[in-house]
Amino acid sequence: MPDIITLTGRPPSASHLTLSQIMDQHHTNLMGTVHGGRILNLIDSVAGVVAARHSDGPAVTAAIDETAFLRAVRVGDVVHVDARITWAGRSSMEVAVKVSADRWDRAVPPVDVATAHLVMVAVDDEGQPRPVPPLRTETEGDRRRYREAQIRREHRLALRRALLDGAGEG
Ligand SMILES: CC(C)(COP(=O)(O)OP(=O)(O)OC[C@H]1O[C@@H](n2cnc3c(N)ncnc32)[C@H](O)[C@@H]1OP(=O)(O)O)[C@@H](O)C(=O)NCCC(=O)NCCS
Repeated sequence: MPDIITLTGRPPSASHLTLSQIMDQHHTNLMGTVHGGRILNLIDSVAGVVAARHSDGPAVTAAIDETAFLRAVRVGDVVHVDARITWAGRSSMEVAVKVSADRWDRAVPPVDVATAHLVMVAVDDEGQPRPVPPLRTETEGDRRRYREAQIRREHRLALRRALLDGAGEG
């Protein structure tokens, strides 16, 4: 018999996560600021935890899109990586991630650093997609993010179809 989560879904608040980390001198670029790949690594890791929490098991990254780097992160800054699930399908989930930073040398509000949207797919022991609980939106913000995620999904699938249709044409 299906359990209550399977029947009613699970809200974004149940898997929402913010990770905070002090940036050290490892992973800097030639400018001496934090490498974009380091920020992407944090984004991917935190999104993976959120997807695993929602789906009660492992999830892999199928796509990362709409990533924008808004400001540089410096050594000593405290970076906050905030991730929440915005949409869930049969086996895939969209996770939206916002990255902000507290400047180490100035008492100013956190500055926005990056935003990203990731498609995570829940997988079984063989690495095959497995079903995930539906997403139960609770707030107006949840519903707006869900609608926006649906638009992004349609765009991703249309792009994938168009590229596959064009494949092999030289
Ligand atoms: C992700 C993966 C499991 C999907 O496997 P697949 O055989 O393509 O499975 P499907 O075609 O059934 O897709 C599964 C789901 O993912 C979605 N999906 C897969 N690729 C997608 C993409 N590029 N964009 C958006 N959605 C995607 C599908 O729409 C489907 O969603 P739904 O079940 O909610 O309807 C497989 O491609 C994989 O293992 N990729 C490598 C993942 C990985 O190792 N990532 C770490 C970085 S290397």
